[in-house]
Amino acid sequence: MHLAPCPTSVLLILASLLCSTTYFRLPSPFSDDNPYHSLFLSSGDNATTARHLLSLTSRPHTAGTPANYITALYVLNTFSLLNFQAHVTPYKVSLTYPIFRSLDASFPATNATSSLSLQQEPCQGDPYSETLEALPTFHAYAKTGQAIGEAIYVNYGRERDYALLKSMGLSVEGKVVLARYGEIFRGDIVNNAMEEGAIGVVIYTDPKDYGGDNSSHTEARWMPPSGVQMGAVYRGIGDPSTPGWASIEGCERLERENMEKGLPSIPSLPISAKDAKVIVAGLEGPLVDEDWQGGIDVGAYRVGPGPVTLNLTYIGELKEMKIHNVFAVIKGAVEPDRYVLMGNHRDAWIFGAVDPNSGTAAMLEIAQRLSKLQKRGWRPRRSIILCSWDAEEYGLIGSTEWVEENSEMMGSKVVAYLNVDTAVSGAGFHASATPQLDHLLKEATQEVKDPDNSSRTVYDSWIESGDPPLIGRLGGGGSDYAAFLQHIGIPAVDMGFKGAFPVYHSLYDNFVWMKKFGDPSFQRNVAVGSIWGLVALRLADEEFLPFNYSAYASELHALEEDGWASRFRKENALLVRDLNDRLMMAERAFADPDGLFGRSWHKHLVYGPSKHNDYGSRSFPGIEDAIEEGRSSSTRESWAFVQHQIWRASRVVSQASLVLRGDFT
Ligand SMILES: *[C@@H]1O[C@H](CO)[C@@H](O)[C@H](O)[C@H]1NC(C)=O
Ligand SMILES: *[C@@H]1O[C@H](CO)[C@@H](O)[C@H](O)[C@H]1NC(C)=O
Ligand SMILES: *[C@@H]1O[C@H](CO)[C@@H](O)[C@H](O)[C@H]1NC(C)=O
Ligand SMILES: *[C@@H]1O[C@H](CO)[C@@H](O)[C@H](O)[C@H]1NC(C)=O
Ligand SMILES: *[C@@H]1O[C@H](CO)[C@@H](O)[C@H](O)[C@H]1NC(C)=O
Ligand SMILES: *[C@@H]1O[C@H](CO)[C@@H](O)[C@H](O)[C@H]1NC(C)=O
Repeated sequence: MHLAPCPTSVLLILASLLCSTTYFRLPSPFSDDNPYHSLFLSSGDNATTARHLLSLTSRPHTAGTPANYITALYVLNTFSLLNFQAHVTPYKVSLTYPIFRSLDASFPATNATSSLSLQQEPCQGDPYSETLEALPTFHAYAKTGQAIGEAIYVNYGRERDYALLKSMGLSVEGKVVLARYGEIFRGDIVNNAMEEGAIGVVIYTDPKDYGGDNSSHTEARWMPPSGVQMGAVYRGIGDPSTPGWASIEGCERLERENMEKGLPSIPSLPISAKDAKVIVAGLEGPLVDEDWQGGIDVGAYRVGPGPVTLNLTYIGELKEMKIHNVFAVIKGAVEPDRYVLMGNHRDAWIFGAVDPNSGTAAMLEIAQRLSKLQKRGWRPRRSIILCSWDAEEYGLIGSTEWVEENSEMMGSKVVAYLNVDTAVSGAGFHASATPQLDHLLKEATQEVKDPDNSSRTVYDSWIESGDPPLIGRLGGGGSDYAAFLQHIGIPAVDMGFKGAFPVYHSLYDNFVWMKKFGDPSFQRNVAVGSIWGLVALRLADEEFLPFNYSAYASELHALEEDGWASRFRKENALLVRDLNDRLMMAERAFADPDGLFGRSWHKHLVYGPSKHNDYGSRSFPGIEDAIEEGRSSSTRESWAFVQHQIWRASRVVSQASLVLRGDFT
């Protein structure tokens, strides 16, 4: 049968089926009256946060550098001094570093050539910006090579931008693309350009998106004109030389040639607004609409191609480097083999005061509070592990290698993974989660005062300011939750206070910016610590896991009328365990062994990244991929394939409901 091309309605039915099955939460007897949790909340200390942040960000510390190893020792030492069992788990992974970069713009009318500076300039009042230790600006895993050709402006470099160019009769084939940052993951900007036939890519920071045409960042929060956003252009996850398994010393590795198949095949460079101005000013050709106009002061942006031509040269080196994940383990008193994991990455592009070390400072401040609880006699029911990841910036590498190494253990033992990457870049709480954790997250924010208005809670401000949906989902590849959720199926949360953060991945994300704009009194950071820690404490300490899968409300409602909680306890501690295991394992059922079609590392069939933007979170990404293919080829087979993907998704939803029910059919 030829499936009518309206599978989106089927998708909606499936989504509502899932929504109705993903909320259930054990009722009120489990509200939080644990005195240790109150002590935790009242022990926040902004001076501790500030001190750790200052230490962690004193030097540039990109993954693989000696300075980043020092931050690993700093975290290890902090954990040890607080009397936690702490250890380091190293991996050997393939990272890249720049050896040579140049970008020349030539103007045929005058035969003039301008060599762009590719330098981020020191700013007055910001001693950090004078560092000589920062890596030159580059894209991690960029292709080594040279691209000489006419420049062409492609806006954000999305598929729709190329479609518009095509409708104007313009092609980027053989050209060097100029794209502005924003909207999609930079690796997808490079990949889209490559697929359209471009030979090189220059990505710049436009003042319209990141501000700062005139001002130095010490006066305003914007990106200074010479600021450059660094970052990886690799679209995979984890060490590219060990796809799907852990990069332990002496392990199997892909041959160089095979590994490079997974990396970009055309060179790219990130540049500043200041350097981009030279190129934008040199473009002629048609004007596009307002959507394509940026903030550089050149009059109107034209598309080209040319007449300005670019000579982009990039030489990078790929090296096997040692990276270091650091852990503190707090053993549970009752169920030591069940784990609540809290994670943050430690490696930065340069100083990383916001991204990621505001999160590292929050984690170390939490560690101090937990050590205080321990001194007062607290031991969690379940184990808690604090995880400090390395090499996240290169492709979520430290966390992914660890998940791959421990995947079988993880499947049966981990209750939830709670991620904080950037803890604070400004005012306003933001969170994403798998749905069974929504409720717990909301409750935690009701226990914490808004650091910017002490007459209300974080929750009050959050719901007032929040664009619906209040809580995002975690299908995207933006941070270290990806391997836990998308590869294994572990319930997860990601959160932080997020304000405008134009200095993202630049030299100017440093302690001066944090103190001035991000979190002047470090009270937002303490608030993140309170919410993050409280969610962890409740997952670790409550007898029944506070997950809300509401379709099972009726089932458990009946049990409740029966005095189920005390019955569970009286009859057998193993029944408590059984119920908790069902709650813990239900999410795993969404992870299918075969994974998404064509990207099988991604096992989770309900949440995953968009194929065209790794930052974009999608529900039922496999169905979306199939529909896209169906729309473009419109064959009977392609629509049958959509149907197959819908069946697969509905099967994992049924599996999850069976796991929750806990009985064989
Ligand atoms: C579970 O979540 C649903 C949907 O968000 C909500 O209406 C309900 O109150 C929650 N149940 C409990 C016990 O928190
Ligand atoms: C540019 O250089 C070419 C080759 O050297 C020369 O023929 C041409 O006259 C020059 N044009 C201008 C405007 O100087
Ligand atoms: C930069 O300064 C100039 C001159 O003061 C002004 O005309 C221009 O609008 C400013 N640009 C931005 C983006 O603020
Ligand atoms: C392009 O730039 C490279 C590196 O600066 C330089 O060696 C090469 O001669 C340039 N090529 C042309 C055609 O200008
Ligand atoms: C602080 O919160 C109170 C209570 O919600 C509200 O009335 C007040 O307007 C808030 N103040 C600011 C500055 O937002
Ligand atoms: C801690 O917060 C208080 C109150 O907001 C503030 O006065 C103090 O300066 C902060 N300490 C640090 C180190 O920022």
